[in-house]
Amino acid sequence: MVKIARNSRGLSKLSTPARHGSAPAKRAEPTSSGDSMTEQSEWTGRVGASWAHEWQRTDRSFGPLTERLLATAQAEPFAYAVDIGCGAGEVTYRLAADAQSSRVLGLDVSEELVAIARQRIGDLTNASVTLGDAAMWQSGDSAPPDLLVSRHGVMFFADPTAAFAHMRSQCSAGARLVFSCFRERAANPWALELSGILPAEESAAPADPNAPGPFAFGDRGHVSKVLIDAGWSDIAFEAIDYAMVGGNGKDALEDALSYFQRIGPAARTLAELTGVPRDAALAHLRRLLETHHTGDIVSLDASAWIVTARAPA
Ligand SMILES: C[S@@+](CC[C@H](N)C(=O)[O-])C[C@H]1O[C@@H](n2cnc3c(N)ncnc32)[C@H](O)[C@@H]1O
Repeated sequence: MVKIARNSRGLSKLSTPARHGSAPAKRAEPTSSGDSMTEQSEWTGRVGASWAHEWQRTDRSFGPLTERLLATAQAEPFAYAVDIGCGAGEVTYRLAADAQSSRVLGLDVSEELVAIARQRIGDLTNASVTLGDAAMWQSGDSAPPDLLVSRHGVMFFADPTAAFAHMRSQCSAGARLVFSCFRERAANPWALELSGILPAEESAAPADPNAPGPFAFGDRGHVSKVLIDAGWSDIAFEAIDYAMVGGNGKDALEDALSYFQRIGPAARTLAELTGVPRDAALAHLRRLLETHHTGDIVSLDASAWIVTARAPA
């Protein structure tokens, strides 16, 4: 297991939007619940809008995981990479900026996120972003991708085996697959603790731990079976523990308070609660985040897999 170390600022690296593409303008402020990211329809609606509004802070939350994912993806040269569920495009942008003789395509179902990603790649001529469902996307290309990459974008397929079989069919022989996903909910204190601020009836985990959603790929046995059944081989898992940053700077606590009201497992319920229950939940959230406030950082413990696999040669 890799434990990503903190430095004197609290993290091994903290992503800043300025380094990773130009910053699109700020937008309206919807909310999202991490546990409600269960279906494509959530991403084409409310949740996608929320992530589009919060793209800088969601990038920040992944910080050290992103560096590890990119290093794994870049461990071998590639000619054409597709970033599955590219969201606001940080991985698309970084891969394209670092390998200017290669091509990178970002693919996502959310119009709002695709719009952000397109602005972000700016005038990088080797990057593009397209709107589409990865479970049906056709490469339609004489030179199909030799790398599929994703940062947390592959846990939402209704039929993951069919989706991964389809994606493999669109790749070149021997193509690599590299993606990150959360480990199981029990290994992610950030999710348990944020859910814990809600009234009990609002914080229950889904009955099926493998149901589409943020923790659908937590069980490596399940992920292995999906990938093997979909025709991938050489499957490997790297466990990553990392600090999920919710706030930083001199107003780190307020930053984290506003962030977790918009993104994560408490967001939707907090937006819907009113009166005393809402005040109680917000007070609980503040107390929780105070216990995770160190120096100029508020961060919660998170854990992920980086999964690698290969299409048959
Ligand atoms: C947790 S977000 C991660 C976004 C981005 N990869 C990042 O790291 O910021 C999941 C992304 O997967 C996208 N997504 C969900 N289902 C998809 C599908 N079937 N095809 C393509 N994108 C999908 C969502 O729209 C969303 O942008």
